[in-house]
Formats: sequence, C-alpha cells, structure tokens
Amino acid sequence: MFRAGGRPPITYIFTCCLFFVAGCIYRSLWTHPLEKFSPPAPKGNIWHQSNKVSSTALEQELQTLMKVIEWPEPPGPTDYEFSTSPNTTEFHMLFPRATYYVGEYVEVLIIARDHKGRPKAYGGDYFQAKLHSPMLKAGVTGSVTDHRNGTYTASFLLLWPGQVEISITLVHSTEAIAILKDKRETRPDKVYFYGYFHGTSEVMECNVKPPGKDVCEYHDPYTGESWFCMRPKQGGCSAYKGHAAGGSRDILTSEEARFLDKSVKEKLISSKVESFNVFSPTTNVDSRAHCSPGLPNPDPSGFYFQDIWYSRVCKNRAFPHPANVTECLRGKIIYIFGDSTTKQWWDFLLSFVPSLQRQDLHALFPAPQLAVDTSHKFAIQWQMHEKPLYIMYSDKQNVHYVASELERIGGNKEGLVVVINCMAHFVTYPVKVYAQRLLGIRDSVVKLMKRSPLAKVFIKSGNTGYVYTHGSDWLSLQLDLVMRTMFSGLPVTILDCWQMTSCHYLPPDIHPAPVIVKNEIDLLMSFICPT
Ligand SMILES: *[C@@H]1O[C@H](CO)[C@@H](O)[C@H](O)[C@H]1NC(C)=O
Ligand SMILES: *[C@@H]1O[C@H](CO)[C@@H](O)[C@H](O)[C@H]1NC(C)=O
Ligand SMILES: *[C@@H]1O[C@H](CO)[C@@H](O)[C@H](O)[C@H]1NC(C)=O
Repeated sequence: MFRAGGRPPITYIFTCCLFFVAGCIYRSLWTHPLEKFSPPAPKGNIWHQSNKVSSTALEQELQTLMKVIEWPEPPGPTDYEFSTSPNTTEFHMLFPRATYYVGEYVEVLIIARDHKGRPKAYGGDYFQAKLHSPMLKAGVTGSVTDHRNGTYTASFLLLWPGQVEISITLVHSTEAIAILKDKRETRPDKVYFYGYFHGTSEVMECNVKPPGKDVCEYHDPYTGESWFCMRPKQGGCSAYKGHAAGGSRDILTSEEARFLDKSVKEKLISSKVESFNVFSPTTNVDSRAHCSPGLPNPDPSGFYFQDIWYSRVCKNRAFPHPANVTECLRGKIIYIFGDSTTKQWWDFLLSFVPSLQRQDLHALFPAPQLAVDTSHKFAIQWQMHEKPLYIMYSDKQNVHYVASELERIGGNKEGLVVVINCMAHFVTYPVKVYAQRLLGIRDSVVKLMKRSPLAKVFIKSGNTGYVYTHGSDWLSLQLDLVMRTMFSGLPVTILDCWQMTSCHYLPPDIHPAPVIVKNEIDLLMSFICPT
C-alpha cells in the first residue's frame, strides 16, 4: 500500500503562495486591520506536528455520541404492510381550549398506524412538525416526543398572534430508519468518487474507505485522516492530481426500496385539526440578552414572522441595507470553512454589498475564494472542507482539512471571525467518519481560541432538505446532534440553521432560497455586532 507521506511539497508551496498572494492583497489594501490578521508564519513546519486524533479518544467520544443519537428500533424485521403509513397516521389536538394566547404551548397527539390502519405498538418514526401562518410568513418548529408505543406528542410554542395551523410530516417510518441506519454503517460505498492522475486518462474509484484491494492511500499525517483510490495501472499513486464526484449505487433490495419509496417518505399526515386563532399576550417584554458566544439554543430556537427570523437565543438584529452590513463588518477578517451551504453565504454577501469585491485568485470553485471591501476594510475568505466532497472536478491542492487550515490563522486583536460548517457530505457514512473529522476540527478550534481569545468562532448547523439519493433529513439530524454534542461547552456559537430551514414555508431545500440565507447571515452578524 502506497502512503503518500503527507502533503507533497508542491501542495505546500502552492498553499503558501496562495496565502502569500492573499497576504499581499490584504497588505496593499489597508494597513490598519490587515496586518493584525495576516496569517502568522507557522512556527516550525506545522506538518511535522500532528493533530492526529488518537483512536482511544475517538472510541471514547463515539461511545458517548452513539448514546446521544440512539434511536428506537422496530422489534424485528417487518413486512411493508405493517410499517408506518403516512396515509393512515393521524394527529389530533390534546386538551383543546376556547382561546389561545402567545406564550402558551399547544400539544397534539400523533397516532402512528400501518398500511392497513392498525395502530403501531412501537416508536421510532421520524416526524417533523411545524406551526405556521402562511399569510403572515410566520413559522416555528414543534418538538416531537416519542412515547415508544406508537404515539407521539408534538408540542408547539405560540409566538405570534393571528391565525395559525399545524403541519406534521412523516419523514420516515421506523422501519425505513432501520434500513437507513444499517446502510449508513455497512455500505460506505453507496456514494463513490473519482480520482484523476497525471499521465493517464484512467479514472479510478475513490472513497473514505478502500474501494477495493489494490489501493493508494493518501494519508494526511497532520490530521491522521486518509483518502483511498484504486491504484491506476499507469503513473502510480503519486500521480494523483484531482477529485470529482463519481456516482451512487443502488444498494437496496426491491423489498427495502419500498420502505424508502417517495410514496411513503416526507409526506404530510392528515388531521382534522383546523387552524385556530392566537391572541396577543397581555404583557410583552423582550427579556433576551445581547448575542454572545456560548449561549444555549432553546427549543424552539426562534421563529419567522413576516419572513424575519426572531431568535430566542438572544436579541438578534436585522441588517436590511448593505450599509448595515458594512458597518458591522468594518475591520473584520472572516474565514469561512465549509461546503456549498456557506458558499451560499459568501455569494449572497457579494451580491448584497456592492463595495465587497471578489478577488481573482486564478482558481475557481471549490478553490478558496476571497472577497475584499477596501472602503470598509474587511475581507471574507471562503474555503471548502476536505473530501468526501460530491463536487465537480477540482485539483487536489484546492481543498484542505479545516483542522490544518485553522492552524494558519490567529492573532489576538478583535475582528477575527471564523465560521465552520461541515455535515452534508458526511451523511452517507458511518458516524465514526464524521466524529473523527469533527474531533480534529474541535481540537484546532480549541487551540485557535487559546492563541486568539478574542476570535469569534461559529459552527453553522446543517440545513434540512437533503433529499438527494441516499440522503435523508434523518441522517442529517443524527449528524447535527453529533455536531452539537461535540461543540457543547466550548465558547463557540452554534448557529441553529436547522430550525431556520425546517420551519420556513418554502419547500425543503438544502440550498435554501435567498430569504433564508439572508436570515442566516443576519443571525451570524448579530453575534459579530450584538449592538
Ligand atoms: C395514499 O393515498 C393516496 C390517495 O388515496 C394514494 O394514491 C397513495 O397510493 C396512498 N399511499 C400509500 C403509501 O398507501
Ligand atoms: C403511550 O405512552 C404514553 C406515555 O407513557 C401514555 O400516556 C399512553 O397512554 C400510551 N398509549 C398507548 C396507546 O399505549
Ligand atoms: C441601517 O442603515 C441605515 C442607513 O445607514 C440606517 O438609517 C439604519 O438605522 C440602519 N438600520 C439598522 C437596523 O442598523
């Protein structure tokens, strides 16, 4: 087995050049905030140090995490007709009242039934619940409790006055989830990738696990992570030059496929519960604190009203005009590490703020992207996390491990902002793969915060609406819980984009519409500029 022996020197040089160029751009554009944040030269060669996650630490962490994400399973293999059906499952109002006021809770009872209408006797179905007012562009997620006997309670906090209605979606039956969970752990090959090599047109299959016997292992000694490709006939392992999405395999038997068919998943369930009126509270005091790191996300963590997100974490702000954004971001350097869902943020800010200009670094997506606002003296860099990545072709030097990249930034003055998101590309893999990646990132975050106590670090949660092949909001939910658990207790801010995407009136989309992206960014800026 060939071990690439770390990042080849050429990559290192390229990356240095990139930062050198970026650094020059910064320095030539302004003197004051720039120098404070130009990336410090790494002390020694950071590639000789290691952030490698020890396997005992990982196993220990994993034990805790698997308990956190434990999900009730069906008692045994079940025929399709005995699985939960969205057609026969119903909900009704618990404790109906004559009047409802803002600040009160409303509860509904969900009764799960199978395809023949027989009540289910065990739990584990995944429902998403929301209370909303289409006319008011208002919505909030409900919290669902599984009584593990075929019934569930969904609870909603009433947060605005007006006519409201309740929608409950059966995302998956418990039987479907048992299949998803099994395939997540046992079939990491269901989504695969391609590797490209110098000197040959051969394209090889690659993945986080060896896709066969005769493989090349690309081991990153800093993070301890590996990427595997089938060995090309020509050129050898060291000729590896780039990466692209491959395809997906149909891994389900026809019987399994029925449980995950679109006729039974992500379906609204019926109810006789009608819309009802909510009245204003007698008193209305805003007791929210200013936004600061480490605040817990209550449930619900906020709600939409007239398409504006009102956080329940803290007193969030709206930044309706470009001037409000530039006023907030003046003097800041913002590093965003993640996937296409934060690339949307970068793109949105570029189109929203005319004075923010994309810098041509002669490298296309997914290579790092830099935008600078010389009038207001701030810069935003977006960078993709390392593979697995279901993306178009990219040269290998254009994507890096977030954990390693974090080692390059720091400084102990105000104005350094780091945003990290990493989830969607991991949903099809065993939980361990994701936990290992996050452990490395978390270690680097902790080190960064020691070096730069004034830095503000944000972890953007995943969006709902992963409806591609082999994807599922249930798989995303599990990783979202893993992420929240792993970063709890650190002075970082977890931005709850999960609820912001799941309770909006637009159809589920992991790449949400601009109205949602704008609210996500405004929430971020509320923490950067709390007053
Ligand atoms: C649910 O009911 C609709 C309308 O009667 C029907 O077309 C559909 O096939 C049913 N789906 C299932 C899964 O039974
Ligand atoms: C299910 O469990 C809940 C909570 O323990 C209980 O209130 C309810 O009566 C049970 N329902 C059935 C049908 O067993
Ligand atoms: C946004 O900017 C405008 C124009 O500078 C200003 O009048 C307004 O008060 C700002 N609003 C907020 C919420 O900061």
